[in-house]
Amino acid sequence: MTTYRIAPSILSADFARLGEEVRNVIAAGADWIHFDVMDNHYVPNLTFGPMVCQALRQHSSVPIDVHLMVQPVDALAQAFCKAGADLVSFHPDASGHVDRTLQLIKAEGKQAGLVFNPAEPLDVLEWVIDRVDLILIMSVNPGFGGQSFIDSALRKIEKARRLIELTGRDIRLEVDGGIKVDNIRRVADAGADTFVAGSAIFNQPDYQSVIDAMRRELA
Ligand code: DX5
Ligand code: ZN
Repeated sequence: MTTYRIAPSILSADFARLGEEVRNVIAAGADWIHFDVMDNHYVPNLTFGPMVCQALRQHSSVPIDVHLMVQPVDALAQAFCKAGADLVSFHPDASGHVDRTLQLIKAEGKQAGLVFNPAEPLDVLEWVIDRVDLILIMSVNPGFGGQSFIDSALRKIEKARRLIELTGRDIRLEVDGGIKVDNIRRVADAGADTFVAGSAIFNQPDYQSVIDAMRRELA
């Protein structure tokens, strides 16, 4: 049976109270904390770096899932590993040497993920899937919270699920962007097992009722 995970993105949390927000959303049932790192270069927005991750580490009793939207990747990937991240994912088109970046993250004893934008194929997986612990399918163009789910992601999730099955390994299949209570079931049916949700959770006053409603959809 699939163990579904819900990973609230603190991109939509109150940045003036991040530690409290992390604790509150974990108390509300978050399985992971999704940490969106934007550099105003790979994506047109700027968020937070390894120092903020390190500061939040002590507020989080669950894994910190770092999504790097940065270029270059390697130095920041390593810095996040040292700052207490549990999983570090990056966009293959942002790294000059995808296999090397995966090796760097694994050498730090962390889980490594690859992220695919809406218009990007899964091709690199043919060569590196054995080093990957997580595949993250973007269902919006990266850079901002609160965008609408792009339906073509569903086909890509199905395809990624087939690739994972061929490996026989336990690789997480995560989806990021526009996930809400009313579409999470469709995304799970396509084969996803881990769901990032930012605005759907943090823009509501009662985080637990949203997470509970998502779990009911997944049950
Ligand atoms: C977009 C980020 C997402 C974003 C999701 O670049 O990677 O994690 O915060 O936000 P929602 O759930 O609001 O689409
Ligand atoms: Zn993200």
